[in-house]
Amino acid sequence: MLSEKMQKALNDQVNAELFSFYLYLSMAAYFEAENLPGFATWMRMQADEEMIHAMKFFDYINERNGRVNLGAIEAPKTEWDSALAAFEEALEHEKYISGRINDLVALAIAENDHATNSFLQWFVDEQVEEEASVDAVVQDLRRVADFPPGIFMMDRELGTRGPAAAEGEGG
Ligand code: FEO
Repeated sequence: MLSEKMQKALNDQVNAELFSFYLYLSMAAYFEAENLPGFATWMRMQADEEMIHAMKFFDYINERNGRVNLGAIEAPKTEWDSALAAFEEALEHEKYISGRINDLVALAIAENDHATNSFLQWFVDEQVEEEASVDAVVQDLRRVADFPPGIFMMDRELGTRGPAAAEGEGG
């Protein structure tokens, strides 16, 4: 049985993952509008992964006989100054999510909830990958800056990203 405190924190994380989904979907819409379909595909795949994360928390709460309570999802931004600005924001967001996961682990330990701590370890590892994959794009974007052929080449490359299911659970 989940403690009230743990259940509330896990529900808050469902909301945070759904907001991540919404944020990256909004970035995908921005890239579509900018005629960068490859960047848009990459962000859409990222959004799909966030939905998978949200559902992992959703399923776990239910598995522990907890109660999922869905709340309002904050509206994401809709415009960015550049592809780099969008990806830098995505990186900051992933660091924020990593911090949240660490806080959840700390709470699980404080509550003596070993099952939740074990469940959260997948996310601890996943966040390392999440930060690394976004950071790799940020680094490439810094390299090409606003050089149009560079952005074009990156758009081609990022458009090859496959669906989350085809990448296994990471990515
Ligand atoms: Fe659900 Fe990108 O962390």
